[in-house]
Amino acid sequence: MKVAVIVVAAGSGTRLGAGTPKAFVPLAGRSILEHALHSVAGMSVEPHVIVVAPRERADEARGVLDRVIGAGDVVVGGATRQASVAAGLARVGDAEVVLVHDAARALTPPELFDRVVRAVASTGRGAIPGLPVSDTIKRTAAGGAVVETVDRAQLSAVQTPQGFPAEQLVAAYASAARDVTDDAQLMADAGHEVLVVPGDPLAFKVTTAWDLRRAEELLRPASATRVGVGTDTHAFADTDAPLWVACLEWPGERGLAGHSDGDPVAHAIVDALLSAAGAGDIGTVFGTSDPRLAGAHGDVFLAEARRLVEHAGWRIENVSVQLIGNRPRFAPRKAEAEVVVSKLLGAPVSITATTTDGLGFTGRGEGVAAVATALLGALP
Ligand code: CTP
Ligand code: MG
Repeated sequence: MKVAVIVVAAGSGTRLGAGTPKAFVPLAGRSILEHALHSVAGMSVEPHVIVVAPRERADEARGVLDRVIGAGDVVVGGATRQASVAAGLARVGDAEVVLVHDAARALTPPELFDRVVRAVASTGRGAIPGLPVSDTIKRTAAGGAVVETVDRAQLSAVQTPQGFPAEQLVAAYASAARDVTDDAQLMADAGHEVLVVPGDPLAFKVTTAWDLRRAEELLRPASATRVGVGTDTHAFADTDAPLWVACLEWPGERGLAGHSDGDPVAHAIVDALLSAAGAGDIGTVFGTSDPRLAGAHGDVFLAEARRLVEHAGWRIENVSVQLIGNRPRFAPRKAEAEVVVSKLLGAPVSITATTTDGLGFTGRGEGVAAVATALLGALP
């Protein structure tokens, strides 16, 4: 089944009032046309794509089409939507099914294109997406006087892409006797039955500034997140210093060497947090020569890292750390350590431990290491 998709993007966007032809207005970092073409690229068939653009934007449209689809035609549009569709129809060649789509319906899901193609292919008729009307509709006279209530059960708010057997649509356009705003009207004028298939709320048309804002909101990520990684390594000390790991003291265990208490779990977490927040690292933030930090425990570092993260506009979502080494045997105090560190950070922290099967400096018992990952979410 050969399918052509005509994307009409030649309108001026008077009602949007952006001062730029509507299809070339930016929406979440891409033009409206680029969004529309991404939907076309998601179709399960590979159609022949024809973009209808304003003359002065034809080169820009060509660039977007090449980038998103990689092939297809750009033609210059006319003064009305109908004239623009006609210009696109001149290029459909031997396509059997033609879809006509408003670039302005930037968020239309690819599945809707597929649904329309399937409906045309299986019925041999035109198929257009439509949604039930939810407001009560009044017919009014000049001056606003209500004439009657229209039975909304009989109404459908129609969208694009509208799909048709190619020959029928080409003939309907050739015999068009009036100017209309959608292709199904010309098909009906030519005596063809057209079916409404279920539409999609995301296929709404960006017409006014309010619609553009709605589209921006829908494209905004649900929650902006950032991830960071941190590692730390300490050698076992030659002194009788106590061991501190994960903000806990481990009596009877050999301590670790370091300017502070040498807690690798706390220090790896601090680096993961600072890195995720783009707030530097443990060396630049705390300074190994700061006398106030001599012998300081992990809670001091973690509290300050949390403060910096929140100051930068982030909230800690969770932290995951792995301690690597032979000693201490971590499992018996895992739950205790997780409670202490989670409280300090105000977020769930999971801490696991592993050995390296006798390999490397950790396997030889020369020291321990830790690797941490932190996930941050944007503060509301
Ligand atoms: N369109 C077109 N050529 C025209 C007019 C419209 O290709 N001469 C396209 C528009 O680019 C849009 C679709 O038809 O993708 C639907 O039209 P509409 O929403 O009315 O867009 P505009 O005509 O650009 O907007 P306005 O009517 O507010 O000026
Ligand atoms: Mg218009």
